[in-house]
Amino acid sequence: MCGIVGYVGAKPAAPILVDGLARLEYRGYDSAGVAVLGPSEIRLHRDAVRVRDLEATLPKRFGGKVGIGHTRWATHGVPSQRNAHPQLSADGRVAVVHNGIIDNAAQLRAELEADGVALASDTDTEVLAHLIARADGTLEDAVLATLDRIDGTYGLAVLDREHPDRIVVARNGSPIIIGIGDREMHVASDTSALVRYTRQVVHLDDGELATLRADGYQTFTRDARTTKTAVTVDWDTSDYGTDGHRHFMHKEIAEQPDAVRRVLKGRLDERFQTVRLGGLEMDAREMREFRRVKILGCGSAYYAGQAGAQFIEELARIPADAEPASEFRYRNPVIEKDTLYVAVSQSGETYDTLVAVQELKRKGGRVIGLVNAVGSSIARECDGGVYLHAGPEVAVASTKALTNMMVGFALLGLHLGRIRDVSPADGRRLLQALTALPEQIETILADEEQLAAVAKTLAQAPSLFFVGRTRGFPVAREGAQKFKEISYRHAEAYQTSELKHGPLALVGPDLPTVAIVPDDELLDRNLGALQEITARSGPLVVVTHDGVDLGVTSAHVVAVPKSEPELDPLLLTIPLQLLAYHAALLLGHDVDKPRNLAKSVTVE
Ligand code: F6R
Repeated sequence: MCGIVGYVGAKPAAPILVDGLARLEYRGYDSAGVAVLGPSEIRLHRDAVRVRDLEATLPKRFGGKVGIGHTRWATHGVPSQRNAHPQLSADGRVAVVHNGIIDNAAQLRAELEADGVALASDTDTEVLAHLIARADGTLEDAVLATLDRIDGTYGLAVLDREHPDRIVVARNGSPIIIGIGDREMHVASDTSALVRYTRQVVHLDDGELATLRADGYQTFTRDARTTKTAVTVDWDTSDYGTDGHRHFMHKEIAEQPDAVRRVLKGRLDERFQTVRLGGLEMDAREMREFRRVKILGCGSAYYAGQAGAQFIEELARIPADAEPASEFRYRNPVIEKDTLYVAVSQSGETYDTLVAVQELKRKGGRVIGLVNAVGSSIARECDGGVYLHAGPEVAVASTKALTNMMVGFALLGLHLGRIRDVSPADGRRLLQALTALPEQIETILADEEQLAAVAKTLAQAPSLFFVGRTRGFPVAREGAQKFKEISYRHAEAYQTSELKHGPLALVGPDLPTVAIVPDDELLDRNLGALQEITARSGPLVVVTHDGVDLGVTSAHVVAVPKSEPELDPLLLTIPLQLLAYHAALLLGHDVDKPRNLAKSVTVE
């Protein structure tokens, strides 16, 4: 999605802005641009190009110590130079970068045109620049007056030739983070653009604005000044490098053992055979009151939520289910006071999930977050939660964050379970299984060569099935998701039990099936399905446990170590990441930035 950067200080702004934009590149975009305040004018450079090309073509005279920059993911108007941000007012006085969507842009554009303003782009953002330039008062007054006329969402940063000492920023539904430097201030829509310069950051809330000057910042709303507390970011620039790996996705897959160690760290309570989740800010008595758990997330986070609902139902015997957050608010959901709502998100900025949380809170629901990005919008909106500590995830396809989501749900399930009926012996069994996960993941990753060979057999198929039952079904869904995202092959997930109710009609020599077959109480049933597929000459890849006799000889077998049955989905998911990665590699795709997708989906 779109990215914003800004700088005000004593150094040349352009290199800092371009560096920040390069760090936002992973989020996906189609155009980039920067504007700096020269001695008497705003200097603008933008195009439908990658950041390195923008940098290579920067004009020689591009000095200025205050500036803003943007990476654009087109919503209004095709990717082109005129539609790239920053957008300028007609008189060249005001420059604006904007994330989000202005719903009444068409009406405002018509009004401006009727008033004689020649519009220079097809964007919704351009209206902001014109309206701010035409409003009276200080820059802050002009921005406030303009925002009063706007319906929609925005994170924005404004530069004004008449107020050359400052940038004004505002937020409504799209993140704005201020970075506090040494006699300089930064701003960005994502912490990754800030960590090279500072670890001290301030997150704006919806409805908040801020004025940034070299010597400090002031936050305010329409009605009053506000006071903010800076938080320290514990990620640094080295977390945003590929560290010798060919792709971020590969690095992030390899980081999973350490990521799991981090999410477990300090949370396993050997004495009471349970887990400590201080961030929930709820005592055992409150936790006992819940009669139901509802999990909300989007995409892979939703699939992690489906696995999580099963963990919770199995471990705590509380009815639990997951639902795509993107659909939730549109069906006017009934919010129950004895339901624990859980929002799950890597970025903590997914708009659909954020708005679902806001809808829940508006109706009085109790909602906790399982979130990776500390201090992100969803984390702050929730009533407490569990941070996932996967570290920054740069590749669009989620891997280590997804794994840590599943671990986070296992922790939550065990916590809820031990407050209820899970025995100390079962608690101990699960703690041991959790502790063993990092080494077991290492064992799976060591088989990469074999997985690359299996990927070769899948990469050329135009269409694939991923199938699994109960615990294996979210694994199959996530496997299909990862495969289609980066290989661009059609991959569909089914419950194995559903094959004979329809999809089996497609099974044949041209349609491979990746079957998830854990060594659990459904093994015999799964083995029966493998026979049905083989009988129709369907190529098979079976992801199973060490030592299982599948009874079919033609299948490619991928065996993972056994965990406790409840935690099996965690390990069964890992090889599917490498299958997708190697298939995409063979097909020559941009693994880290798949077409049409963005890392953090901050629009509806
Ligand atoms: C898939 C993927 C997406 C995200 C989804 C939610 O690999 O990355 O499906 O899982 O967009 O994102 P977060 O977790 O940031 O809310």
